Amino acid sequence: MNGKDTSRNIIIVGFMGTGKSTVSRLLSERLGWESIDTDEEIERRAGLSIKEMFAEQGETVFRDWESRVLKDVLEQGKLVVATGGGAVLRESNRRRMLSGGWVVCLTADKASLISRVTSAAAAGSRPLLAGDAEERVTALLESRRHAYDFAHATVDTSDRTPSEIVDLLINWLPRSWS
Ligand code: S3P
Repeated sequence: MNGKDTSRNIIIVGFMGTGKSTVSRLLSERLGWESIDTDEEIERRAGLSIKEMFAEQGETVFRDWESRVLKDVLEQGKLVVATGGGAVLRESNRRRMLSGGWVVCLTADKASLISRVTSAAAAGSRPLLAGDAEERVTALLESRRHAYDFAHATVDTSDRTPSEIVDLLINWLPRSWS
Protein backbone atom coordinates (compact mmCIF):
# COMPACT_ATOMS: atom_id res chain seq x y z
CA MET A 1 0.00 0.00 0.00
CA ASN A 2 1.33 3.44 -0.68
CA GLY A 3 0.39 6.86 0.66
CA LYS A 4 -1.02 8.32 -2.54
CA ASP A 5 -4.64 9.31 -2.04
CA THR A 6 -5.74 8.07 -5.46
CA SER A 7 -4.63 4.55 -4.60
CA ARG A 8 -6.13 4.67 -1.16
CA ASN A 9 -9.44 3.00 -1.86
CA ILE A 10 -10.90 -0.15 -0.39
CA ILE A 11 -12.25 -2.38 -3.12
CA ILE A 12 -14.59 -5.20 -2.20
CA VAL A 13 -14.76 -8.17 -4.57
CA GLY A 14 -16.43 -11.55 -4.28
CA PHE A 15 -19.06 -13.88 -5.62
CA MET A 16 -22.74 -12.88 -5.72
CA GLY A 17 -24.30 -13.10 -2.27
CA THR A 18 -21.12 -12.65 -0.25
CA GLY A 19 -22.41 -9.35 1.18
CA LYS A 20 -20.24 -6.88 -0.74
CA SER A 21 -22.79 -4.04 -0.85
CA THR A 22 -23.83 -4.34 2.81
CA VAL A 23 -20.25 -4.55 4.07
CA SER A 24 -19.11 -1.65 1.88
CA ARG A 25 -21.89 0.59 3.09
CA LEU A 26 -21.20 -0.19 6.74
CA LEU A 27 -17.44 0.10 6.34
CA SER A 28 -17.76 3.48 4.64
CA GLU A 29 -20.02 4.73 7.44
CA ARG A 30 -17.51 3.58 10.05
CA LEU A 31 -14.60 5.23 8.25
CA GLY A 32 -16.52 8.34 7.22
CA TRP A 33 -15.59 7.62 3.61
CA GLU A 34 -17.87 7.68 0.59
CA SER A 35 -19.04 4.38 -0.81
CA ILE A 36 -19.78 3.51 -4.43
CA ASP A 37 -21.45 0.39 -5.71
CA THR A 38 -20.37 -0.14 -9.31
CA ASP A 39 -23.61 -1.97 -10.20
CA GLU A 40 -25.69 0.96 -8.92
CA GLU A 41 -23.42 3.40 -10.72
CA ILE A 42 -23.85 1.50 -14.00
CA GLU A 43 -27.63 1.54 -13.58
CA ARG A 44 -27.59 5.26 -12.80
CA ARG A 45 -25.40 6.18 -15.75
CA ALA A 46 -27.09 3.87 -18.26
CA GLY A 47 -30.62 4.57 -17.05
CA LEU A 48 -31.33 0.84 -17.15
CA SER A 49 -31.38 -1.90 -14.56
CA ILE A 50 -28.68 -4.56 -14.89
CA LYS A 51 -31.39 -7.09 -15.57
CA GLU A 52 -32.70 -4.95 -18.46
CA MET A 53 -29.18 -4.36 -19.77
CA PHE A 54 -28.41 -8.09 -19.88
CA ALA A 55 -31.76 -8.81 -21.56
CA GLU A 56 -31.69 -5.97 -24.11
CA GLN A 57 -27.99 -5.46 -24.81
CA GLY A 58 -26.22 -8.59 -23.62
CA GLU A 59 -23.49 -9.41 -21.13
CA THR A 60 -20.60 -7.92 -23.13
CA VAL A 61 -22.22 -4.48 -23.12
CA PHE A 62 -22.66 -4.81 -19.36
CA ARG A 63 -19.00 -5.89 -18.91
CA ASP A 64 -17.83 -2.88 -20.93
CA TRP A 65 -19.87 -0.58 -18.68
CA GLU A 66 -18.43 -2.35 -15.65
CA SER A 67 -14.85 -1.79 -16.80
CA ARG A 68 -15.50 1.88 -17.62
CA VAL A 69 -17.20 2.63 -14.32
CA LEU A 70 -14.50 0.81 -12.35
CA LYS A 71 -11.79 2.83 -14.11
CA ASP A 72 -13.57 6.15 -13.41
CA VAL A 73 -14.31 5.30 -9.80
CA LEU A 74 -10.76 4.19 -9.04
CA GLU A 75 -9.37 7.48 -10.28
CA GLN A 76 -10.77 8.99 -7.09
CA GLY A 77 -9.45 8.24 -3.61
CA LYS A 78 -10.79 7.39 -0.14
CA LEU A 79 -13.70 5.40 -1.46
CA VAL A 80 -15.11 2.07 -0.43
CA VAL A 81 -15.99 0.43 -3.72
CA ALA A 82 -18.41 -2.51 -3.93
CA THR A 83 -17.95 -4.33 -7.23
CA GLY A 84 -20.18 -6.83 -9.04
CA GLY A 85 -19.24 -10.50 -8.69
CA GLY A 86 -17.91 -10.68 -12.26
CA ALA A 87 -15.81 -7.50 -12.19
CA VAL A 88 -12.76 -9.67 -11.50
CA LEU A 89 -13.07 -11.60 -14.76
CA ARG A 90 -11.14 -9.15 -16.94
CA GLU A 91 -7.44 -8.96 -16.32
CA SER A 92 -7.43 -5.20 -16.97
CA ASN A 93 -9.98 -4.74 -14.18
CA ARG A 94 -7.92 -6.84 -11.77
CA ARG A 95 -4.83 -4.80 -12.55
CA ARG A 96 -6.71 -1.57 -12.02
CA MET A 97 -8.09 -2.75 -8.69
CA LEU A 98 -4.69 -3.88 -7.42
CA SER A 99 -3.13 -0.53 -8.22
CA GLY A 100 -6.18 1.44 -7.08
CA GLY A 101 -6.28 0.35 -3.46
CA TRP A 102 -6.64 -2.48 -1.01
CA VAL A 103 -8.61 -5.36 -2.54
CA VAL A 104 -10.68 -7.41 -0.11
CA CYS A 105 -12.45 -10.57 -1.20
CA LEU A 106 -15.56 -11.71 0.66
CA THR A 107 -16.39 -15.41 0.47
CA ALA A 108 -19.13 -17.64 1.85
CA ASP A 109 -19.91 -21.34 1.75
CA LYS A 110 -22.22 -22.54 -1.00
CA ALA A 111 -25.24 -23.06 1.27
CA SER A 112 -25.02 -19.48 2.58
CA LEU A 113 -24.66 -18.12 -0.95
CA ILE A 114 -27.67 -20.04 -2.20
CA SER A 115 -29.79 -19.00 0.74
CA ARG A 116 -28.85 -15.33 0.29
CA VAL A 117 -29.34 -15.15 -3.48
CA THR A 118 -32.68 -16.93 -3.32
CA SER A 119 -34.04 -14.83 -0.44
CA ALA A 120 -37.29 -13.00 -1.18
CA ALA A 121 -35.50 -9.66 -1.57
CA ALA A 122 -32.80 -10.95 -3.92
CA ALA A 123 -34.63 -13.53 -6.02
CA GLY A 124 -34.88 -12.67 -9.71
CA SER A 125 -32.55 -9.67 -9.58
CA ARG A 126 -29.44 -11.43 -10.91
CA PRO A 127 -29.61 -12.36 -14.61
CA LEU A 128 -26.79 -14.89 -14.36
CA LEU A 129 -28.80 -16.89 -11.83
CA ALA A 130 -32.00 -17.07 -13.88
CA GLY A 131 -33.56 -20.53 -13.92
CA ASP A 132 -32.36 -22.94 -11.26
CA ALA A 133 -30.36 -20.62 -8.98
CA GLU A 134 -28.75 -23.50 -7.12
CA GLU A 135 -27.45 -25.07 -10.33
CA ARG A 136 -26.25 -21.73 -11.63
CA VAL A 137 -24.40 -20.93 -8.39
CA THR A 138 -22.72 -24.34 -8.47
CA ALA A 139 -21.60 -23.92 -12.09
CA LEU A 140 -20.41 -20.34 -11.66
CA LEU A 141 -18.56 -21.11 -8.43
CA GLU A 142 -16.73 -23.85 -10.29
CA SER A 143 -15.87 -21.67 -13.29
CA ARG A 144 -14.72 -18.82 -11.04
CA ARG A 145 -12.88 -21.00 -8.56
CA HIS A 146 -9.64 -19.00 -8.75
CA ALA A 147 -11.04 -15.72 -10.02
CA TYR A 148 -10.79 -13.97 -6.66
CA ASP A 149 -7.36 -15.25 -5.64
CA PHE A 150 -5.67 -12.00 -6.65
CA ALA A 151 -7.19 -10.05 -3.70
CA HIS A 152 -4.91 -8.74 -0.97
CA ALA A 153 -7.11 -10.17 1.80
CA THR A 154 -10.03 -12.59 2.12
CA VAL A 155 -12.80 -12.81 4.71
CA ASP A 156 -15.30 -15.65 5.02
CA THR A 157 -18.69 -14.11 5.71
CA SER A 158 -20.65 -17.36 6.26
CA ASP A 159 -20.81 -17.11 10.04
CA ARG A 160 -20.03 -13.46 10.62
CA THR A 161 -22.33 -10.47 10.83
CA PRO A 162 -21.58 -7.44 8.61
CA SER A 163 -20.52 -5.56 11.72
CA GLU A 164 -18.01 -8.28 12.71
CA ILE A 165 -16.58 -8.24 9.20
CA VAL A 166 -16.17 -4.47 9.29
CA ASP A 167 -14.42 -4.69 12.67
CA LEU A 168 -11.97 -7.20 11.19
CA LEU A 169 -11.27 -5.04 8.16
CA ILE A 170 -10.74 -1.91 10.21
CA ASN A 171 -8.26 -3.79 12.38
CA TRP A 172 -6.30 -4.81 9.32
CA LEU A 173 -6.13 -1.29 7.92
CA PRO A 174 -2.94 0.66 8.47
CA ARG A 175 -3.58 3.33 11.12
CA SER A 176 -2.86 6.08 8.61
CA TRP A 177 -5.77 4.95 6.45
CA SER A 178 -8.56 5.36 8.97
C1 S3P B 1 -22.61 -10.48 -11.59
C2 S3P B 1 -22.87 -10.06 -10.31
C3 S3P B 1 -23.85 -9.00 -10.00
C4 S3P B 1 -23.99 -8.06 -11.19
C5 S3P B 1 -24.32 -8.81 -12.43
C6 S3P B 1 -23.27 -9.87 -12.79
C7 S3P B 1 -21.62 -11.55 -11.81
O1 S3P B 1 -23.43 -8.27 -8.85
O2 S3P B 1 -22.82 -7.31 -11.38
O3 S3P B 1 -25.58 -9.41 -12.25
O4 S3P B 1 -21.17 -11.74 -12.96
O5 S3P B 1 -21.24 -12.22 -10.82
P1 S3P B 1 -23.48 -8.86 -7.34
O6 S3P B 1 -22.24 -9.66 -7.15
O7 S3P B 1 -23.50 -7.64 -6.49
O8 S3P B 1 -24.71 -9.66 -7.24
